[in-house]
Amino acid sequence: MPEQKPVTEAVADANPDTFTITDNKTGKSWEMPGRTGTMGNRLIDIKSLYGKTGILTYDPGFTSTASCKSDITYIDGANGVLLHRGYPIDELANNSDFMETCYLLLYGDLPTPEQKLDFDGDIKQHTLLHDQITKFYTGFMRSAHPMAIMVGVVGALSAFYHDSMDITDIDERRLAAHRIIAKMPTIGAYAYKYSQGLPFPMPRNDLSYSENLLQMMFSNPAEEYKIDPVLAKAIDRLLILHADHEQNASTSTVRLAGSSGANPYACVASGIASLWGPAHGGANEAVLKMLDEIGSKENIEKFVKKAQDPGDNFRLMGFGHRVYKSYDPRATVMRESCHEVLKVLGINDPKLELAMELERRALEDPYFIEKKLYPNVDFYSGIIMKAMGFPTSMFTVMFAIGRTVGWISHWKEMLVDDEQKIGRPRQLYQGEDKRVYVPIDRRGHTETKTGWGWLWGKKS
Ligand code: SDX
Repeated sequence: MPEQKPVTEAVADANPDTFTITDNKTGKSWEMPGRTGTMGNRLIDIKSLYGKTGILTYDPGFTSTASCKSDITYIDGANGVLLHRGYPIDELANNSDFMETCYLLLYGDLPTPEQKLDFDGDIKQHTLLHDQITKFYTGFMRSAHPMAIMVGVVGALSAFYHDSMDITDIDERRLAAHRIIAKMPTIGAYAYKYSQGLPFPMPRNDLSYSENLLQMMFSNPAEEYKIDPVLAKAIDRLLILHADHEQNASTSTVRLAGSSGANPYACVASGIASLWGPAHGGANEAVLKMLDEIGSKENIEKFVKKAQDPGDNFRLMGFGHRVYKSYDPRATVMRESCHEVLKVLGINDPKLELAMELERRALEDPYFIEKKLYPNVDFYSGIIMKAMGFPTSMFTVMFAIGRTVGWISHWKEMLVDDEQKIGRPRQLYQGEDKRVYVPIDRRGHTETKTGWGWLWGKKS
């Protein structure tokens, strides 16, 4: 991302915050207003562009496009800054807990002791799943990926909780938000238990959110389960680090789904589906698979080079980021937590050694330096979760449990934003010109512009 040059105060004050767009083909110009937030890049407000000019903008992947305004999270990618409602992520990770961070993201301020107690208490009222929802699990194969189960079960919540579907009702919106946050650990843990052929443990309201997640995942019904405070703290910190990240792919998916008026359960299910991709939340699982593939330090060089080969689709999983062109501040905290958890558990995981050597080697490689590719939140999270006993297939489920509060906070914000309307992007059309229909008995083997291969994803 080009460095944002500071505008000198004098120039900024002397000139209006507008931009002039000139069509060099016609010589016509139009003025567009500039927008500036509390922090971050200046924007050209192009809402009126098409209406005024009949001209569209083109920005696949939204690399230069802001889709909305928001008060929730701020990222400064050039300087590795991540703020949630103004609070730096490392301060929250080191001093807050996940429930407090949820309150902050949802309601905009850190809670008072009374507000925290009320919020914790309300979330605990919704940790149980309707008994008929638990029957959904038996419809899946035991080998189903837990993310496939999570997408299905979360979407199905809208078949049950009709008392929190009216998105125009503030109380119903709040109930849906608290209910989804509360049920995600239960839904995720049950997907794991189902894969193991084990009974579903009841949530325990005498435990904290993260302790409860731990006991639902790893308790054995035949024995008393003792919560390990180190693991509970590590999970809580992991959830904080995954809670929100402004307009990432899955959050943008939730916003787009919500812009049509879809119910909150369906919107969160769409976010889960998007998060599952290996370029996004599925990267933590992909990092572990990549480390398995690399196998030893001797192979690192080969894979670092492979990741640079333009003819090879292989990418170094856990590296790079659309916004961070410096260290992902979450990765820094995650790295420290990784060392702490492995040390306390007395685990000497060669994968951590391998990951650290891979990180060292990549960070000194000219290709990674030039393209500003640094470790992101997914690079270390898988190693911690593996150390805590989570199977690789549950890594993205854990990401989804943490990110649910971010999704639902943005969903809520989008609904009350007076500038928001149904999201409906346009396109650059490159297909066939208008042509006449040919009855089937008069059709030979005609090559269309894209050829028959286009059906299967490749141009002939
Ligand atoms: C998350 O958006 C968010 O905030 C996401 C997230 C969140 O909290 O919600 O932070 C969580 O999704 C983190 C990212 C997890 N994904 C991975 O670790 C997968 C590996 N990373 C890449 O797939 C990639 O870096 C992305 C998807 C993360 C970012 O892709 P971009 O912004 O579209 O960047 P790009 O693909 O245009 O890459 C720019 C260049 C390209 O080379 P050129 O075409 O310019 O020659 O850098 C190269 C890429 O080939 N590149 C990599 C690379 N990532 C980018 N080359 C090797 N290895 C990589 N990992």
